Amino acid sequence: MFGDGTTWLLHCRTGFEPECAEESVSMAARHGKHAFARTARGDALVEIVSADGTALGPAPQWRELIFARQSLALLASFDALDPKDRLGPPIEALADAGMRVADLWVESPDSEAGGDLRALARALEAAAVPALRKRTLVDPASHWRAHLVLRSGTHALLAYADLRHASPWPMGIPRLKFPKDAPSRSTLKLDEAFLVLLDDSERARLLRPGMTAVDLGAAPGGWTWQFVARSIHVTAIDNGPMDAKLMDSGLVEHRREDGFRYRPRQRVDWVVCDMVEQPARVAALMGEWLAGGHARAAVFNLKLPMKKRWLEVRRCLDGLDDALEGRWSLRAKQLYHDREEITVAAVPR
Ligand SMILES: C[S@@+](CC[C@H](N)C(=O)[O-])C[C@H]1O[C@@H](n2cnc3c(N)ncnc32)[C@H](O)[C@@H]1O
Repeated sequence: MFGDGTTWLLHCRTGFEPECAEESVSMAARHGKHAFARTARGDALVEIVSADGTALGPAPQWRELIFARQSLALLASFDALDPKDRLGPPIEALADAGMRVADLWVESPDSEAGGDLRALARALEAAAVPALRKRTLVDPASHWRAHLVLRSGTHALLAYADLRHASPWPMGIPRLKFPKDAPSRSTLKLDEAFLVLLDDSERARLLRPGMTAVDLGAAPGGWTWQFVARSIHVTAIDNGPMDAKLMDSGLVEHRREDGFRYRPRQRVDWVVCDMVEQPARVAALMGEWLAGGHARAAVFNLKLPMKKRWLEVRRCLDGLDDALEGRWSLRAKQLYHDREEITVAAVPR
């Protein structure tokens, strides 16, 4: 651990700072640490601060947090950077902490204010690594990456990520390319879910040509497209029309049925669900599909209510975990391509 270890710094979706704060404060509490959150709605950034000044320990693993896009440990804060030398003090702070880093990223929060700082961040980042090299603070084999998060032109937070447990993308945002023949933008949600919620070996093992999937609430077919692109057969359940080109693939059977009532004759490899419904109802449905032997793995969205969103998420996931009796590993994340929702994967253990 570097610095005093009293503060974690988390990137999140703008507007979801309260949920990110509640989740991380309760995670600190589970580790016996009393912490409070410093944030404001629209910041897209949350600081989790030790309440008694003792170290909180390493920043939480990014994959374990639902509402954080990136998880960092704070090293130092700079309130009055000189616009002529914004990098000097953070580099000194890294040297003082005895840190050698694999890289240094200059970021800004994914907020309105942060958007105005993006060009400055890029310019600083281009200058940062040569400056670090001059001070021999770069070590390609290091587990650490420094993050300088700009809050304004003169206010920045210096933090670090553990490369083994942090998001591999700047600001925790994967830049996925929209496939030109996919029928809807929500295709990127499932693409990102496979990328974030499964690891390399699970993707290779669980997404193989010839497998079978059921897509509940499939129209027009963005999620179905992700399976078809992997040569996986899909039964698409929706009263709405499916994209004609997708149907031409010969890999899709479209059934105009109620997604809550449909069950396959034989167990399928995947069930996915993007129906806009009460989250508790969707979570219960997924529990029934998996525990009832209708599917081996699942990915689904939980659309969040306007209020008490963290409580609702916990209720749904705890209920599902009980229903699955620990036989599936549950992972949940508010993905970059999610809006007022989170995405959950249930993978057989
Ligand atoms: C958000 S859209 C799905 C978009 C789709 N995942 C894609 O990538 O193109 C939700 C869909 O769920 C369908 N839906 C809602 N309730 C349903 C139900 N009870 N049974 C089947 N489909 C339902 C709607 O008709 C709508 O097409």
